[in-house]
Amino acid sequence: MTLLAVQDLHVEFATRGLDNRLRVAQALNGVSFTVAAGEVVGLVGETGAGKSLTALAAMGLLRPPARIPHGSIRFEGREIIGLSDRELEKIRGRRMAMIVQSPLTSLDPLKRIGDQLVRMQRVHDTAHGAAARTKAEAMLAAVRIPDPARRMRAWPHELSGGMAQRVLIAMALVNDPALIIADEPTTGLDVTVQAQVLDTLRDIVAARNLGALVITHDLGVVAHYCQRVAVMFAGRIVEDGPVREVFSRPSHPYTRALIDSTPGRIAQLGWTVTGGTPPDLYDLPQGCLYRDRCPRAATACLAAPPRIAVSGTHGAACHFAGEAA
Ligand SMILES: Nc1ncnc2c1ncn2[C@@H]1O[C@H](COP(=O)(O)OP(=O)(O)OP(=O)(O)O)[C@@H](O)[C@H]1O
Ligand SMILES: [Mg+2]
Repeated sequence: MTLLAVQDLHVEFATRGLDNRLRVAQALNGVSFTVAAGEVVGLVGETGAGKSLTALAAMGLLRPPARIPHGSIRFEGREIIGLSDRELEKIRGRRMAMIVQSPLTSLDPLKRIGDQLVRMQRVHDTAHGAAARTKAEAMLAAVRIPDPARRMRAWPHELSGGMAQRVLIAMALVNDPALIIADEPTTGLDVTVQAQVLDTLRDIVAARNLGALVITHDLGVVAHYCQRVAVMFAGRIVEDGPVREVFSRPSHPYTRALIDSTPGRIAQLGWTVTGGTPPDLYDLPQGCLYRDRCPRAATACLAAPPRIAVSGTHGAACHFAGEAA
């Protein structure tokens, strides 16, 4: 069952420069992908590719000057673009939840962990009082926090980075959402803790048949934790398919460059790794946005790159996708 279906999503920022001229940055330029129940989809791509914007849009969290001039985001069959904040608040934290990178800024420093988990349930009217406390403690146990009864009374500053990230996962899951969106959930944690936290997340997602969108710079994380991967470049998905297939037979030159530049499991890919700079979002060229950096670029790439089939199992937005590497 498809939980999240993003189709041809465009996001732009209109800002006025010092000369008072309106400038428009086209940050997302036709993003399409789906996440089904029971599926963990990785979203990768260099800095500025638009991964976080995609996540924020899916959560209904974009705010001006961000604008959605075109596209569709359906969650559980319902279009969420255009919903009021009141309607979105009924979905966010309830049917879909987000895990972000910095747990200590996402937790309320003035409230005990248990109280925050209870409040999360009260706000969404999923449980109250003793039932909510029991559920909160069970969630802390589920994310493998030792001695959960005692941790209920802990303050955020008393937690290690790994523990705080687990608490955030518990917060995201306490109302039994169908979809989890995790934006670099373990960046900044050391490798061992990162693996423990991701293992926990993967086990819960599998046991509850959740859908998950995991944003990461780390192709090793994708290889270990995701079934499907979407590769993003300059606000477009340039390749989408089963992880094994995409990693063994990448079709888009950008995906190839990304994989070639990954030295080991824990490589953190920054934008310089594959060489070149991203295109100017304020002045996007026609045609394929990767062509200036592409070894395969040809005249055909001056026209628009082919769109990838949304329902296909493995596709790439490249005229030469069918060619052997
Ligand atoms: N308020 C804004 N005004 C103009 N451009 C913006 C604004 N916010 C974001 N952008 C642009 O949107 C693009 C996508 O940003 P986004 O944060 O989604 O990238 P990302 O893929 O998550 O990168 P990272 O890996 O660094 O987290 C970037 O080029 C960024 O400069
Ligand atoms: Mg980001």
